[in-house]
Amino acid sequence: DNYPQKFPADFLWGGATAANQIEGAWKTAGKGLTTAEVVSKAENRKKMSMDQVDQASLAAAIADQTTTNYPKRRGIDFYHHYAADIKLFAEMGFKVFRFSIAWSRIFPNGDDQTANEAGLAFYDRVLDELAKYQIEPLITLSHYEMPLALTQKYNGWADRRVISAFTHYTETVFKRYGKRVKYWLTFNEINTGTWGFHATGAIDQGLTKNEQLQLRYQALHHQLVASALATKQLHQLVPTAQMGCMLARMQTYPATPNPVDVQAAQDADQKNLFFTDVQVRGEYPGFMNRYFAEQGIKITMQPDDQQILSENPVDFVSFSYYMTTVTQAAQDGTAVGNMATGGRNPYLQESAWGWQIDPIGLRITLNEMWDRYQKPLFIVENGLGAVDKLEDGKVHDSYRIDYLRQHIEQMKEAISDGVKLLGYTMWGPIDLISFSTSEMSKRYGFIYVDQDDQGHGSLKRIRKDSFYWYQKVIKSNGEDL
Ligand code: BG6
Repeated sequence: DNYPQKFPADFLWGGATAANQIEGAWKTAGKGLTTAEVVSKAENRKKMSMDQVDQASLAAAIADQTTTNYPKRRGIDFYHHYAADIKLFAEMGFKVFRFSIAWSRIFPNGDDQTANEAGLAFYDRVLDELAKYQIEPLITLSHYEMPLALTQKYNGWADRRVISAFTHYTETVFKRYGKRVKYWLTFNEINTGTWGFHATGAIDQGLTKNEQLQLRYQALHHQLVASALATKQLHQLVPTAQMGCMLARMQTYPATPNPVDVQAAQDADQKNLFFTDVQVRGEYPGFMNRYFAEQGIKITMQPDDQQILSENPVDFVSFSYYMTTVTQAAQDGTAVGNMATGGRNPYLQESAWGWQIDPIGLRITLNEMWDRYQKPLFIVENGLGAVDKLEDGKVHDSYRIDYLRQHIEQMKEAISDGVKLLGYTMWGPIDLISFSTSEMSKRYGFIYVDQDDQGHGSLKRIRKDSFYWYQKVIKSNGEDL
């Protein structure tokens, strides 16, 4: 049997988080305000509100100095609980922990000349704690937040000057942490910058749809260049480290075998894969050049941009995987849950938030990504957001175990198909503030956190049933599911 039938011995099992969803301590030790901290909780959990930030809501958010309406200001107070939380991750046997650095802890205004030592020291403490248990850090440089001052001064990534502010920040953290961190990611789910503010930091409400697309793709071009420059820096400063890109991969299936639907699905897939295409292959694919021309979008590039992109591809490809969608020619872009657009798939069940659950889709995705790029892959998010019930100090979350088991089984199939997979960091190993709705009650964790949507609770950490299950999965290297 000349093919792998087990997870590789050095497979990186773990979990993933983001600074603005866990840290809290939003004004502690010199930290500046971030774009995530002016987004209020969604009124409707099936509808995402975070890209509706406009000048008026921004001013209201800045005037409001509480954490009540802006849950990402409080997170789960990881800032003060990190040692105990990491100890729990170690108890599960984590080999890797993915987290992000809040740029505004290091540079409160984003473009300050000198770094904030107290901010740098916090991540030193986190890294010390991980080292204690030999947990490999995987750091995201930009996860759905940036210093709000950059929005106010430049309208975020819409302005090219943000690139040099970013590379000053990345150089600082590579120099500081480079020796201790092997795996890095530039922009979380870079493709979702096409949705707006949460990823671009650019306010674009009130613009026409076409003007929004123009602004968002220009901002994304700046991120693609910044990502390539950060990759170059990392390779120069820390030759042993590896840089990855990060895509919210949403495979879409044709609604029928009618070639017009198949072509429409391919088209939707290409728009999703465009970003990794640039970050791996180093140039804009022809289908995007055509799309931009047809939409009247003009991407302004500097003479060196193409060379920067082609000379600095990433070392590995990471992605999040939650769902698949269905595409029909000439569909109206109806929403699937609160995140994706596309059609319903009658063969799939969905989560309480309307996300279509598709474990086999993960095997398909892994195979296609491997075929397309031939670079090591890393699943850096996957998981089930659910309402959990705490009863007698226990959470019986068999639904979460089922979800994860089914996805891990398909990962194993893909490895047997020949896919090179570095690791798996499930999303939200400890309950945290939801990205899309800022709810606390949308829980992903193996560890329950006693806090409600209003921020009430003891913040006590409680092991769920899934905690013991994942411990067993890691211990058996994915054999005992
Ligand atoms: C990804 C993000 O989109 O999905 C995470 O990278 C996010 O930040 C995760 O938390 C799950 O989404 P949500 O909205 O359920 O928190």
